[in-house]
Formats: sequence, C-alpha cells, structure tokens
Amino acid sequence: MSKTFHILTYGCQMNEHDSEKICGMLNSIGYKEIDNNNADLVILNTCLIRENAAQKVFGKLGELKGLKRNNPNMLISVCGCMMQKDDVREKTLKQCPFVDIIFGTNNIHELPELIKKAQTEKLKAVHIIENTVEIHEEMPKVRKYKHKALINITYGCNNFCTYCVVPYTRGREKSREPEDILAEIKDLASNGCKEVTLLGQNVNSYGNTLSRDYSFADLLYDINKIDGIEFIRFMTSHPKDLSDDLIKAIKECDKICNHVHLPVQSGSTKVLNEMNRRYTKEHYLGLVEKIRREIPDAAITTDIIIGFPGETEEDFLETVDLVKKVKYESAFTFLYSIREGTKAATMENQIPDDIKHDRFNRLLEELYPIVLDKNKECIGKTYRILIDGVSKNSDDYLTGRSEHFRLVHFKGDKSLIGKIVNVKIDSAKTFFLEGTIQK
Ligand code: 5AD
Ligand code: SF4
Repeated sequence: MSKTFHILTYGCQMNEHDSEKICGMLNSIGYKEIDNNNADLVILNTCLIRENAAQKVFGKLGELKGLKRNNPNMLISVCGCMMQKDDVREKTLKQCPFVDIIFGTNNIHELPELIKKAQTEKLKAVHIIENTVEIHEEMPKVRKYKHKALINITYGCNNFCTYCVVPYTRGREKSREPEDILAEIKDLASNGCKEVTLLGQNVNSYGNTLSRDYSFADLLYDINKIDGIEFIRFMTSHPKDLSDDLIKAIKECDKICNHVHLPVQSGSTKVLNEMNRRYTKEHYLGLVEKIRREIPDAAITTDIIIGFPGETEEDFLETVDLVKKVKYESAFTFLYSIREGTKAATMENQIPDDIKHDRFNRLLEELYPIVLDKNKECIGKTYRILIDGVSKNSDDYLTGRSEHFRLVHFKGDKSLIGKIVNVKIDSAKTFFLEGTIQK
C-alpha cells in the first residue's frame, strides 16, 4: 500500500508554490496526499514573517505531539522559512524532540533522502542549506490548480529592509533563466493554464543576476506572446526599482492585469529611511501619479506596517495622509512585529502595543471607506473573470478575481470552474464584489 502525507502551508504564495514542489517530490517516491493528520508523514511548511505566523506553527506541533504518541510510526517534518534561522530551528528541536525531519527553503530536492534516513535508519534527519546560487529546475510539481499557476522568477532578496527576516530565510537574490521560465509557462498553457502569477520578493530587479541584459519588462513582453495565457499577474514590486519600462509593458501588453502591488510600508520619509526602503514619500507619490496617468484604469494596492520603532504620531499621520492621497484599491496592514536578527529588532523606541493598536484602528477607519468607494465605482461595469472555485460562504456561488485583484462572487454552476466568463457587478462591499454572469 502506498504511503500517505499531509501538508500544511503557512504564509505567502512563495511558500504555497514550494509546497507544490514538495508534493511533486513526494509523489515521485510514491506518497499520496490526504487532507487530514492520519498520514504517514505530516509536513508543516512554515513562515516567519511576523510573530503570529511562528506561533501558529508551534501550536500545531503541540497538537501533532499527541497524535504521534498514538502512532509512533508517523513521521513529522518541519520545513520552510522558520527552519532557515538557526535560533528558531534550535528552539524547534529543543521544544519538539518528536520532529523527525527538518529541511529548509533551499533543499526541497533532498526530501526523499531525508525521509529514507528517518525511516530506515531511524535517525533524526536535519539538513539546511544556508545560502546558495543553485536553482533546482528539475523538481516535479503538483499544481493545486489547472487553470492558474504560480511561477518563481526570482528567489531570495538583497534589500535588507530593517524589519524583514526574508533576506535571512531566503538568501541572496537570484533570477531564473528566461528560457526556463518561458518553457514552464508554454508547457502550462498547452495543458490549459490561463493565468500565471510571477513571484519574486522584488520582481523589478529580475534579470540582475543573469549573464545578459534582460529585464523584467523583457520577460513580460515574452510571456505576453504565449498562446493560451490570458492573464499575467506579478508580485511584489519594490518602489525603488519600478521602471518606466515596466509601466510601458503593463500599458502595451493586453494580457498583463492592470494591477500593481506596490508596498509603501510607511508614509513618513524618516521612517522609510530607518526601514532602509531607499525611497521618499514624494518619490512614491510620484510613481503613483505616473502609474495613474499612464494607465488610468490601474489598481494600486500596498502593504503598510504600523508601529515601526521610533514611529511618532506625526509619522503615523504622514501614512494616513499618503493613504488618502493614493486612494488605494486595497491594502494589507500589519502591526510591526520584532524579528530576531534584523536591524530593527535592536532599535530603541519600540512602540508600545496599545499605541500600535490605536494607530492601526485609526488607519483602518481612513482606509476602509476609500476601498469601499473604489469598489462601488465597479457597480454596473463588466469584467472578464477566470473562475477559481466555489465561494467559501455558499455552495451556490462561484468566485474569481477581477483583473484589478478584486474578489468577485457570482451565482453559477461548478462546471464553470477554470473558465473565463463576463461578470457584471451588482453590488460592492469593502472586501468583495457581487455580480451576475452575462450570457
Ligand atoms: N512586522 C510587520 N510586518 C512585516 N512585514 C514584513 N516584516 C514585517 C514585520 N517584522 C510585512 C511587510 C511586507 C509584508 C509581506 O509583510 O509589509 O511587505
Ligand atoms: Fe523583505 Fe524588503 Fe526583501 Fe521585501 S524587499 S522581502 S520587505 S527585505
């Protein structure tokens, strides 16, 4: 009988895609995925971006400890970003001695060997590759969806924003060869894939490590030519590297969605400087103006951190002012969370929790009405939507994203999943739109 595995993925799309590779590796050695803990192997693919992400993993490990007591043959594995940091990995090994296999973000390809070690030699299998220039193109993937796919274009990050743990968990930035990316997308398209999301910590610096002159914009033009692909999305764009060529590519290529996720993090130039973001509030607002002028239909979304060390009330009000000026289509807002090993963790003037929460709530009070107003502007308009699946809240409703990344719910039959339909928007809420499929 074949063995079974269950995987839980925490964090971002990068991790989701890594899990697709882990599933591919496991399938290749005969493991079948199931969706509960009664598996021969349970894997937690972890995230360390903020403290609550790590807490969730330790909570889950506590639960698995009990299961393992009843089923000693079960293997427990922890991988992903948390394992790349020595202190977190040591803490995991100490607090959770029942974990059998530990690997990181750079050695997913070693998983079969590690399983063998844990199973046949009954040894704890721990291996991490710290920082590497290698890219493993050969890994099989089990994709979660047929109609849309996540595609890595760069790995790692060189930016060292002072709050961020990613440069320590994902290593230095490296770009995949364009031929490998284009071949992967052509293959997907020939198998019915209609949408690709290109992933990189900073897609705008794609190409920097290639031996020839080939930029992110060049890559977009080439992907735009691939038959069968209808929607091209990408994230994330660092504002310091957003080029005119990229804006031109979005404008000229019909398949690129008119959506730019442009994390601002703070509206205060002083805080941006402390964050090592390498742009000013004015530069950012200039970029927004350029995008809105060149692509009037573009949606701009962002990430904002509240309560970075030393953030004063005036700094916070600068962020509120920026949000009002940009009028974001949507924004992810985060409370600053100390990440050990980063520069900001040792900064003085950490902001007390009550002040952080108060500012956070006041920011949302300004942000949500802006987002709702923008969503209301969609009422009466019709959008081409690739149907992702059934809505979480009701089986009668299907769901997909508009090209501006808005979640849209509409009535329809499950057989339409994976198809592109025209949906006319009837009503708007802060977090989603509702509409009707047009015949
Ligand atoms: N605290 C709070 N938010 C953080 N982010 C990254 N690191 C931290 C941190 N230490 C946020 C940033 C980033 C998003 C993915 O997570 O806004 O853009
Ligand atoms: Fe983190 Fe900054 Fe790199 Fe984004 S660009 S992953 S926020 S260090």
